[in-house]
Amino acid sequence: MCGIVGYVGDKSALDVVLEGLRRLEYRGYDSAGVAVVAEGALTGRKKAGKLANLEKELAENPLPESGLGLGHTRWATHGGPTDANAHPHFDADGKVAVVHNGIIENFAALRHELREAGVELLSETDTEVVAHLIGREFPDCAGDLAEAMRRVCRRLDGAFTLVAVHADVPGVVVGARLNSPLVVGVGAGEAFLCSDVAGFIGHTRDAIELGQGQVVEVRRTGVSITSFDGAPAEGKPFHVDWDVAAAEKGGYDYFMLKEIEEQPRAVADTLLGRIGDGGRLQLDEMRMSESELRSVDKVIVIAAGTAYHAGMIAKYAIEHWTRIPVEVELASEFRYRDPILTRDTLVIAISQSGETADTLMALRHAKEQHARVLAICNTNGATIPREADAVVYTHGGPEIAVASTKAFLTQLIACYLVGLYLAQVRGAKFPDEIQDILIQLAQAPEKVRETLDRMEPVKELGRLLKDAERVLFLGRHVGYPVALEGALKLKELAYVHAEGFAAGELKHGPIALVDQDLPVVVVVPPADRPLLHDKIVSNIQEIRARGARTIVIAEDGDEAVVPFADTLIRVPELPTLLQPLVATVPLQVFACALADAKGLDVDQPRNLAKSVTVE
Ligand code: F6R
Repeated sequence: MCGIVGYVGDKSALDVVLEGLRRLEYRGYDSAGVAVVAEGALTGRKKAGKLANLEKELAENPLPESGLGLGHTRWATHGGPTDANAHPHFDADGKVAVVHNGIIENFAALRHELREAGVELLSETDTEVVAHLIGREFPDCAGDLAEAMRRVCRRLDGAFTLVAVHADVPGVVVGARLNSPLVVGVGAGEAFLCSDVAGFIGHTRDAIELGQGQVVEVRRTGVSITSFDGAPAEGKPFHVDWDVAAAEKGGYDYFMLKEIEEQPRAVADTLLGRIGDGGRLQLDEMRMSESELRSVDKVIVIAAGTAYHAGMIAKYAIEHWTRIPVEVELASEFRYRDPILTRDTLVIAISQSGETADTLMALRHAKEQHARVLAICNTNGATIPREADAVVYTHGGPEIAVASTKAFLTQLIACYLVGLYLAQVRGAKFPDEIQDILIQLAQAPEKVRETLDRMEPVKELGRLLKDAERVLFLGRHVGYPVALEGALKLKELAYVHAEGFAAGELKHGPIALVDQDLPVVVVVPPADRPLLHDKIVSNIQEIRARGARTIVIAEDGDEAVVPFADTLIRVPELPTLLQPLVATVPLQVFACALADAKGLDVDQPRNLAKSVTVE
């Protein structure tokens, strides 16, 4: 949420910052701004709306050439998306520029204090107070901008990433982070401070991860890190394992389309090296001994949004394979509850970004009660995997579109692997079934590929239904979270009122919604669970009898659904527990096509941000 880029080096800071912002725009796109320091003066431009508005403004009112600058793309929290509220914010003398991600919880008291001191505040944001506070501290800091930043950070409550420059300190960019992401990029004679590595991946793949409560000063020649108290601190160097091509659209109209298409490879990468000879699973990164894993007596999955839906599916699989009870809870609910946890509870925190504030706070809540936490995450070095006891990375590559697609499928694969691993370690109840599932899992990339090859009619359906005002999604068993995921995708991308229900609940209320104007998407379980399958076929008939249009997703060879499907979408055969890997794909494509047909911005839906770093 909010993208930040700071740069010092020999290149044009403006070019580098704008390029970084373009790659980070998925984090927020309400407004954007930049500032550079040239010949002892600070100049900035900022504009409400997408980055294109800022670029237009810069074309009309160019900034001077400079090798030092910063920029921001915003997802509004305090104050609406206006030019005045856009970042950077400046101090009263126009010497300090600050960009910020997060929320400063005590900003009202700080605003009051500044007003009392006669400072005129030009925006409604919490960020502006930081620029003024740094400006007021700086004269007592002997020209040390990092020290001014430290003094201010010690006064701030909340979660924040801050990056600042000062007109009188050429060649230095200073950053700070607390519970919000900031990564240092280290190039030859240049350095970057960005919300995530996408911001500098075009220039360097050498990065340093900062810890919580740290201030960093970057120059052309080096990086120095301290705690908020000024004690020297260490960052953790790492090498980014994806390249710039992975973060670019590669010929697709949208990142989302590219990421949907990447799913077979992403799924293969999640599986890579994890199923060893003789079907032995290798999850060394779990860093938990076999005896610790044997003592697990309860699993709680915590996550938000799409990741939560992956967790719901994990429950069916893990309980079935391990016979360990699994609870799944929205991180935002878990965090404010009094859950019963012990050392033998394994908490699994699922997060693509690894920075979602709700999930991070829930993880800390679990750790305070001595539960062991395993993160399933796509982002190397993010806060959630760093704070967890163990991590299984999904290796899905960068996901730029706001709506999660490949992250979801790779989270599913990681959950399956964890469940199967637990089953192996503890002595599987159904060893033959587990071996069969492992064989099927290895074929998953191919099955996802096959599904993608059949998507033309689904795109056509999306275009056909572009005027639909509401859509219902139904499923049973693991098809139920798939239905929820289909509804979420449609809501967020196409702004259509969509609901997902467990098909068994239809008669307990939702059937009252069904009429001839309501398209109903039904996820049909494979025939390997005949009872489940037959029940849903009855549900489809009930819907059809009330005049609704039925859109049926069913596996190859399922003839029982044919008479009741107005539109039939075929997916390749997989066992029930793995079916979400293929059944979700048409729902992603459908939502994307429908939103596109409505002329909406598929990659950047309104009001959303990719990484929700505020609670
Ligand atoms: C929906 C979507 C969100 C995220 C949720 C959690 O398409 O992307 O619902 O799944 O915000 O994000 P992560 O996985 O980064 O914790």
